[in-house]
Amino acid sequence: MSYAIWRNDMSLQAAELMEELLAETRRVLSSGKYVLGGQLAEFESAFSKYHDIPFTVGVASGTEALYLALKAVGVGEGAEVITTPFTFIGTVTAIRMCNAKPVFVDIDPSTYNIKVSAIEPLISKRTKAIMPVHLYGRIAAMNEIGELAKKYSIPIVEDAAQAHGSLYHGKKAGTFGHLAAFSFYPSKNLGAYGDAGAITTDNEEMHRRLKLMRNYGQETVYEQVMDGVNSRLDELQAAFLTVKLKHLDKWNLQRRKIADLYRNELPSEYCVLPEESPFEVNNYHVYVIRVQKRERLVQFLESRGIQTNIYYPKPLHLQIPNQDLGYKLGDFPESERASKEVLALPMYAEMPETVVHDVAGAIRDFYLG
Ligand SMILES: Cc1ncc(COP(=O)(O)O)c(C=O)c1O
Repeated sequence: MSYAIWRNDMSLQAAELMEELLAETRRVLSSGKYVLGGQLAEFESAFSKYHDIPFTVGVASGTEALYLALKAVGVGEGAEVITTPFTFIGTVTAIRMCNAKPVFVDIDPSTYNIKVSAIEPLISKRTKAIMPVHLYGRIAAMNEIGELAKKYSIPIVEDAAQAHGSLYHGKKAGTFGHLAAFSFYPSKNLGAYGDAGAITTDNEEMHRRLKLMRNYGQETVYEQVMDGVNSRLDELQAAFLTVKLKHLDKWNLQRRKIADLYRNELPSEYCVLPEESPFEVNNYHVYVIRVQKRERLVQFLESRGIQTNIYYPKPLHLQIPNQDLGYKLGDFPESERASKEVLALPMYAEMPETVVHDVAGAIRDFYLG
């Protein structure tokens, strides 16, 4: 189906950068080096500088970034990792890839992020990591989570897959945890033209291990010093990401302007708008409202040519592969309620202002009849 108004039209950004991206493509193709070369090193250094953090390790996807980060802090068979069930599937896939057990904590309905007060009772000897997810670009309560992690000496692995450039008390997502994982899936605020991911850390030993682990644990060619996998961010994607990183703050600012417009124009008596506290800067990876009669509203918007999306329609404790964890419907009421009410409206940096008027007008028409 084609839509008049896309939820996220990624072709506009590619068009804006086309000449530069084509020049990079030619440069990489002519270099004769396509994996673990100079482009990757350049991107890793630029990404570290952007975060004012010593180390970045480029890997093949956000899921593998989470998986390798968890492995690096010692998560393995029998370990438990505390996270939320209201997130993308990949958060939990990474825990399962380590043969570890996800332990779910419900969300705070006002932020959609992990409810900090519910974490402590679930900490046990088996807890080997806490994995907060900065959902929709809004950073989890990292000061409080940091205190808990310190009290129990448990490492934090941030799932920063949606939070490129977001701030919390002036600090960027990806700089709070012992390790943080980013996704550069094409639709992300910093997106590649294929799959890609990265891990950030300020710990030299973690950095050393992660560089080995992403390349079969080889210290030199055909010489393994530890277990590892093939998870490398390739040269072409690294070159594209280096070009795009220079624009990230500008694009995030454009998204924030669109969020401001939505805030002014949406009928707040019919939908719950995303909150933002004074100590936060959200990158508005997606603009998510809460509504009643959601399925009918989606159909109505579709009839006006407006595409929307739902992140996420089923919390992870109710997904088939997680049935072995023994959770049931009702265990995480806020996650379950959110999964029935959230709706992501069109949002991308290049989105024309007129789209906000059209979307807000259509939502008003729907509720006012
Ligand atoms: C919150 C979250 N975690 C993990 C991932 C996994 O990243 P990827 O798709 O790059 O594997 C994503 C993105 O898709 C995500 O949004």
